[in-house]
Amino acid sequence: MPLHPDIGDGVRAFVFDAYGTIFDVHSAVMRHAAVIGPQAQPMSDLWRAKQLEYSWVLTLAGRWRNFWELTEDALDVALARFDIPLFLKPELMAAYRTLSAYPETRGVLDRLRAEGFRTGVLSNGETTMLHQAVASAGVGDALDHLWSVDVVEVFKPNPQVYRLATDGFGLSPREICLVSSNRWDVAGAVAFGMQAVWVNRAGHPPEYPDLAPRAVVKDLNGLL
Ligand code: LAC
Repeated sequence: MPLHPDIGDGVRAFVFDAYGTIFDVHSAVMRHAAVIGPQAQPMSDLWRAKQLEYSWVLTLAGRWRNFWELTEDALDVALARFDIPLFLKPELMAAYRTLSAYPETRGVLDRLRAEGFRTGVLSNGETTMLHQAVASAGVGDALDHLWSVDVVEVFKPNPQVYRLATDGFGLSPREICLVSSNRWDVAGAVAFGMQAVWVNRAGHPPEYPDLAPRAVVKDLNGLL
């Protein structure tokens, strides 16, 4: 099965972002949407935005806390900002360990491997949360590697993170295609020299014109 025509011939491995790309980060809140009410989506958006903000600020400031801790800090702020009952906090944190995977994920990973590509996940996620999410989604055995930033203690888009994949696969950046729904992550991978595909499920407008992806797809099926 041919690859998307804009993905270069030299690609030998596909590396996937986890949160937002394989896992639907809003599925934790949506499981409790009936209790939360109309604030559910804006509250979930703020939870995600704060989680990412903390990761970038800490990395720029030369400090480190893992992504699970940042996820909890961000949830505290989101619950307080929207005045949502605190009894939901443990349930939402537990739900974050078993986020729903986008339905096409498993099939696309299997097809890429059948075509001879290697596969991996490269994520800001903390090691344990990442392993639990992958296992719960039933995609662990379709991945050759699972890299957490825990080993370098900086977050994407720091180049040290993308280097985990080139070192781990023993490939050059150009031989790896990063697949991410996070446009800032695509920009980081392209700046590092990787090929990249932006999964733009929501139809967001283009960004980072000087760090462009090879292709923009609507979901992971667009890779093939
Ligand atoms: C990840 C988050 C940031 O790296 O989406 O998985």
